[in-house]
Amino acid sequence: AAVVPPVQDLQDERILITAGPTTTPIDAVRYITNHSTGRMGAAMAEEALRRGAVVDYVLGVDKGVVRPVPPRGSESRLHVVEVRTAEEMAAAALERLPQATGVVATAAVMDYAVASPSASKLKRASAAIALDLVPSIDVLGSLKQAANGQWFLGFAAETDNVEEHGAGKLKGKGLDFLFANAVSKLGAAGQTGFAVNTNAGVLLSANGERHELGLGAKADIARQIWDRIA
Ligand code: CTP
Ligand code: CA
Repeated sequence: AAVVPPVQDLQDERILITAGPTTTPIDAVRYITNHSTGRMGAAMAEEALRRGAVVDYVLGVDKGVVRPVPPRGSESRLHVVEVRTAEEMAAAALERLPQATGVVATAAVMDYAVASPSASKLKRASAAIALDLVPSIDVLGSLKQAANGQWFLGFAAETDNVEEHGAGKLKGKGLDFLFANAVSKLGAAGQTGFAVNTNAGVLLSANGERHELGLGAKADIARQIWDRIA
């Protein structure tokens, strides 16, 4: 049987995707991060490539982070840059913004950075220590500020009042779309959120539309998100 080629409804798009966790160093050998594995970003990238887009992929790397696997024939349309801190992610993304037609922000950016990381390794001692944390850069906010006609899709992982918080972020951040999902127990099978292959949530649009996406593989969720916004 003939294989039906996927619809090429993103072939005029160059999409900037942020993905994965960011990290903030404590000293020469230690850092703080979160449970993001980059799976939702990878699924969004793979589906966009399948539909003909060019993808600039800014990935926060850490142990176990997942990288997108471009569908056959789309390899030359995927451009990956690896970063670690929120500052590095913002710089890499801002550099790639001018050529983008749209932005998909799946990254789990650390909201705080260690104020003054030590250049050398901190030594063990018996006294308690305190780490000063300062707000880190808002990657999506910086991109929005520098935007010139791009559309924006944000993601929000919430533990409670998912849709209410999601709607607040859609409006507050001035986005065109926001996908809000519940975070469940880490890595639990058939669940949503971090370090699992499945997700579920609600896609909100600035025009007031809402679409609930039931539990499915992150690849299916990505396909349904692109079906709605393509
Ligand atoms: N985001 C970002 N840079 C940050 C924080 C968030 O680019 N420093 C982006 C995320 O990639 C996501 C969206 O903003 O697309 C919402 O992230 P979220 O952490 O849910 O928003 P916050 O405003 O940081 O809210 P919260 O206090 O719930 O963490
Ligand atoms: Ca945050």
